[in-house]
Amino acid sequence: MTRIAVLVSGGGTNLQALIDARATFPDAELALVLSSNPDAYALKRAQSVGIDTVVVNKKDWPDRVAFTRAILDKLTEQRIDLVVLAGFMFVLSPEFCRVYENRVINIHPALIPSFCGDGMYGLRPHQAALDYGVKLTGATVHFVSPETDGGPIIAQRALDILPDDTAERLQRRVMEQCEWPLLCEAVRLYSAGALTVRGRIVHIDR
Ligand code: GRF
Repeated sequence: MTRIAVLVSGGGTNLQALIDARATFPDAELALVLSSNPDAYALKRAQSVGIDTVVVNKKDWPDRVAFTRAILDKLTEQRIDLVVLAGFMFVLSPEFCRVYENRVINIHPALIPSFCGDGMYGLRPHQAALDYGVKLTGATVHFVSPETDGGPIIAQRALDILPDDTAERLQRRVMEQCEWPLLCEAVRLYSAGALTVRGRIVHIDR
């Protein structure tokens, strides 16, 4: 059984998608939701279905290394196998990436390598896609490496940009049509043992 921790900072719609799709990954368990924000609505979503929650607040730690060490300690204590970043607002330390190499999954709301990297969160990737004039955008689920949004890509899903799109509308469609199904599929494939990473290429054994 793969024990999963979902790391969140906010509303947790991606967490909700995972909760709703639990039956599709019977080899995995949503064991823990860890939030960097004590007021995150994601905590309520977890608690309402009986998933353990814990808050590790960045403000309680002097720097990123100490903060991510505290997270690492919680995950080790809970014997977590797979970490899912679902709207987690912090970049994890290189130590964290090393300990959990190819065992941390992130969902990014753009087609990497476009509109990604430091500072590209919230509405920004969507606004950047509109400003650039691309005709397609979407979401990418990938393993986490020390480089922001730079790790091996597991899967991508695209959608058309519409003439009257705003960043807000695009964000909503990307979430509903790309992020939520893609993240659930990645967790399903991982927990079924279907993902093999060679260099930066992820091979999927379907
Ligand atoms: C999503 O757009 C996700 O791609 C990004 O942060 C947002 C989180 O939304 N990493 P939610 O908290 O899952 O609703």
